[in-house]
Amino acid sequence: MRVLLIGSGGREHAIADTLRREAPSLDLLATPGNPGLATIGRTVPSVSDPDALVALARAEAVDVTIVGPEAPLAAGLVDRFRAAGLRVFGPTAAAAQLEASKAFAKDVMRTAQVPTARAETFRDAAHALEAVRTRFGAPVVIKASGLAAGKGVIVCATRDAAEDAIRRIADDRVFGEAGRELLVEEFMTGEELSLFVVTDGTRALPMLAAQDHKRVGAGDTGPNTGGMGAYAPVSLATAALIDDVMARIVEPTLHAMRTRGTPFTGLLYVGLMLTPEGPRVVEFNCRFGDPETQAVLPMLASSLLEPVLRVARGESLAGVAPFSWRDGAAVTTVVAAAGYPETPRTGAAITLPDSTDAVRVFHAGTRWGDDGVLVSAGGRVVAVTALGADFATAQQASRAAAAQVRFEGAFFRHDIGWREAARLAGARHD
Ligand code: AMP
Ligand code: GLY
Repeated sequence: MRVLLIGSGGREHAIADTLRREAPSLDLLATPGNPGLATIGRTVPSVSDPDALVALARAEAVDVTIVGPEAPLAAGLVDRFRAAGLRVFGPTAAAAQLEASKAFAKDVMRTAQVPTARAETFRDAAHALEAVRTRFGAPVVIKASGLAAGKGVIVCATRDAAEDAIRRIADDRVFGEAGRELLVEEFMTGEELSLFVVTDGTRALPMLAAQDHKRVGAGDTGPNTGGMGAYAPVSLATAALIDDVMARIVEPTLHAMRTRGTPFTGLLYVGLMLTPEGPRVVEFNCRFGDPETQAVLPMLASSLLEPVLRVARGESLAGVAPFSWRDGAAVTTVVAAAGYPETPRTGAAITLPDSTDAVRVFHAGTRWGDDGVLVSAGGRVVAVTALGADFATAQQASRAAAAQVRFEGAFFRHDIGWREAARLAGARHD
């Protein structure tokens, strides 16, 4: 069995690591990959245009291709692979609109009566400004509808801030074409949860829920990042809550997508807020989350390959057992470069702790320097995932492992999972 993985981040490294654990004889190929992926399989220098990727999959007689990031999915890579008769895991461009267009996602949720924040879509600043003044007030959330590398959301505490955000998105185009449409959205409160489901378009198998940490600073302060860490499981995500999310959010969304003639297959990432009125959707993504994948997949006890292959072959997930999970907990800490998220400094020589069964080291922004030294090559450099018998043990071990990732300007959050820690401490005092 030969698998081609498209992408170069910690997420893809974690997917490869999980496949390798499940199937030691698997032949793994990654493009562009990274130095971590290169220890698990072969890496092929960046092939970005779809024709070249199809040619690569053919030349290498790849059995299944897994697409990591959203951009190639939204650009129609899966459509191209399918047209070429190649097996691929991921949604078509039309289905990937669930992530690539927040306006589209809101429309689907409206049709499917899926609980989410009230929102209106605009193509110009004037009408959006009027909506804030007359119908939304503050706090309010202003979003570029299109793909903006995770940066297109501005949570605004005041009307003035909202007006500024609207002007910057609609007039100054700070997020480029992603801001051609913008959303004015009701502000929600509550804890966030990331739930991945593998779906054939009809049936869906939920994974372990995780919690991401988007802000750069301790206690969830400072600017938003791609994610500074994650943990799984989350004690808030009871079986009853997940059943409710599957019944009121995932199934109606998949149904609405089928009804539109654009069934969603692959990995649906449901970003939830647990509001006082119950779980509501913050966003959908059309691929595995980063860094949640680095926390969730090391906990997997059952097969990843089997459901992925079924979906890639266009088969039903009927009869595939639900995912099963290891006992205990996983905590992932991202080690970032000085200056991240604004202007990360790159090119620093890195030393890493060894990967063990209990501590997995995932490369994200690394590359081999000319002199054979591993150097930093991005904002989020490495993610370390510690597995422990319980949350506190995993959290402690994750911090200790992150401290062993050394390069000039390295920093990380020491409080990944602080909400869970507070919950567990509260439970002990009850
Ligand atoms: P997104 O890129 O859609 O995940 O949004 C980034 C972050 O902005 C989310 O993880 C939330 O923390 C926050 N956010 C997005 N939408 C809302 C909302 N309607 N109310 C409150 N916070 C939000
Ligand atoms: N962790 C957030 C994302 O993958 O979009």
